[in-house]
Amino acid sequence: MSIEARTPCDIRTYRSPDDATATFDVFQTAIRQTAASVYEPDQVEAWAGPARTDLSNWDTRRREAATLVAEVEGAVVGFADLTSDGLVDMVFVHPRVGGKGIARALLTAVIRAARARGLTELRTFASRSAQPAFERLGFVVVADRPDNMVRGVAVPNAEMRRNLA
Ligand SMILES: CC(C)(COP(=O)(O)OP(=O)(O)OC[C@H]1O[C@@H](n2cnc3c(N)ncnc32)[C@H](O)[C@@H]1OP(=O)(O)O)[C@@H](O)C(=O)NCCC(=O)NCCS
Repeated sequence: MSIEARTPCDIRTYRSPDDATATFDVFQTAIRQTAASVYEPDQVEAWAGPARTDLSNWDTRRREAATLVAEVEGAVVGFADLTSDGLVDMVFVHPRVGGKGIARALLTAVIRAARARGLTELRTFASRSAQPAFERLGFVVVADRPDNMVRGVAVPNAEMRRNLA
C-alpha cells in the first residue's frame, strides 16, 4: 500500500463510557459488511450476534482489555485490544476507511503497548478476513481452526502468534 493511500488517524485509549456506542457500531458493521465477503450469512449472523446489546457489558469488556481506538477527524473508525496475557482479542475497522492503514496503525500501537508491558509474545484468533492483515504485521499461523464454534455455528479462524523479541 502506498503512503498516499493511507488515512492519517489518531490512536488513543478507549474512553469509558463515551466510546461504547461507536466501537460497538464498528464491530457490527465490520462483521456485517467487511467479513461478509468471506463468510456465509449464517456465520456472519452468529459472529455479529444481536445488533443491539447491553452496552454496559460491552463497555466493561473494552476497559478490561485496555482497548485502543483509532479516530479520523474526530470520529471513531476502529479499535483493537490487548488482554493482560497477550491476547489481541479484537481488531475491527469500519469499512468506510478499510484498506487505508487503520489496522496497521492500531496493531503497531498494540505491539508497542505489549512491549511496554514486558510481554514477549502476542496471540490472536484471526478471522479469515483479518488473517492477511495480521500476517503483514508479523503474525504467523500456528493452527487453523476450521471448527471454531460461535453461537452453535462453525466460524473458521486461525490461531496466530507474533514474537516480540
Ligand atoms: C481485518 C481488518 C481489521 C483490517 O483493517 P484495515 O484497516 O482495512 O487494514 P489495513 O489497511 O491497515 O491493512 C494492514 C495491512 O494488511 C494488508 N491487508 C489487509 N487486508 C488484506 C486482505 N484482505 N488481503 C491482503 N492484504 C490485506 C494491507 O495491504 C496492509 O498491508 P501493508 O500495511 O503492509 O501495506 C478489517 O478488514 C476488518 O475489520 N475486518 C472485519 C472484522 C475482522 O475480521 N476483524 C478481526 C477479528 S479477528
